[in-house]
Amino acid sequence: MEVIIKDSKKSAGILGAKIIADVIKKKPGAVIGLATGSTPLGLYDELVRLHREEGLSFKEVTSFNLDEYVGLGIEHKCSFISEMHQNLFSKIDINNESINIPDGHAKNIPAMCSAYEEKIQNIGGIDIQLLGIGNDGHLGFNEPGSSLSSRTRLKTLSHETLQANARHFGSIEQVPRHVVTMGLGTIMAAKTCLLLAFGEDKAEAVYQMVEGAVSATWPGTILQHHQRAVVILDEAAAAKLKRRQYYNEVYAGKPDWQRWE
Ligand code: PGA
Repeated sequence: MEVIIKDSKKSAGILGAKIIADVIKKKPGAVIGLATGSTPLGLYDELVRLHREEGLSFKEVTSFNLDEYVGLGIEHKCSFISEMHQNLFSKIDINNESINIPDGHAKNIPAMCSAYEEKIQNIGGIDIQLLGIGNDGHLGFNEPGSSLSSRTRLKTLSHETLQANARHFGSIEQVPRHVVTMGLGTIMAAKTCLLLAFGEDKAEAVYQMVEGAVSATWPGTILQHHQRAVVILDEAAAAKLKRRQYYNEVYAGKPDWQRWE
C-alpha cells in the first residue's frame, strides 16, 4: 500500500485526478470505478478542469459506480446517480451508455447484481477504482462484518453510516436502510485501487486500514492484500498513523519514473 500525505484536501484531490488522468491517457478506453460522497468532490472538480482546459477526454471511458441506495434513482437528489451527474458526468464528455451504476429501482436485486458483476468482467475488469472510506471503515457500502470476498449485493447500512449520511437527507429516518454495493471481492479485482480520506473523523479507520490487522471488522484493511493500492490523505486523516515519517520518506524519494508530480 502506498500512503501519500498531502498538506490539504485540495492538493490531494488534484493528485488523485492526475493519477486517474494518467490511466486514461495511457488507455483512452479505460474502465474507471467511481465513488460518491464528499471525499471525491475535489478530485472530480480537477477532472472537469483537465477536461475543459487540457483536453482530457472521457469519450471512450466506461465507468462503474460502487453503490446506490435501494429505492432511489435519478428522480431523487440524494441518489448516487443524481450526485454523479451533478458533480461529474454532466461536465465531461463521457457517453451516457458507458455509465454504469447499480439500479436502485431494480425489481430483482440479485439478478441486477449478477448482471453488474458480469458486465464488469466482460469488459475486462476495472482499471482503477476510486474509493472513500467510512468512519466505520467501510469501502463502498461494505459495512463491518462484510465478507472479505463479497461481490455486488444488497447490504443493510450500519447505524453509524445512517448517521453520517443523514446530513444529505435532512434526517436519519429519511436515509434508505438498504443499498446495493460492489463487494470487497469486486473492489479487490480492480487493477489499481485509489483511496482518498480527509479529516479527523476518518483517522481511526485510516489507521486500521493501513496499520491494523486485516479483519472484516474494519473492511478497509482488505486493501493490505491488494497489489496496487494508493492511499492519499490529508494531515488530519493521517494523524493516527505510526509510520507517517516512513511514508513521507518513501514519497519524497520516489524515482522519477514513478512520479505523478
Ligand atoms: P464521505 O463518505 O466521502 O462522504 O466521507 C465516504 C464513505 O462513506 O465511503
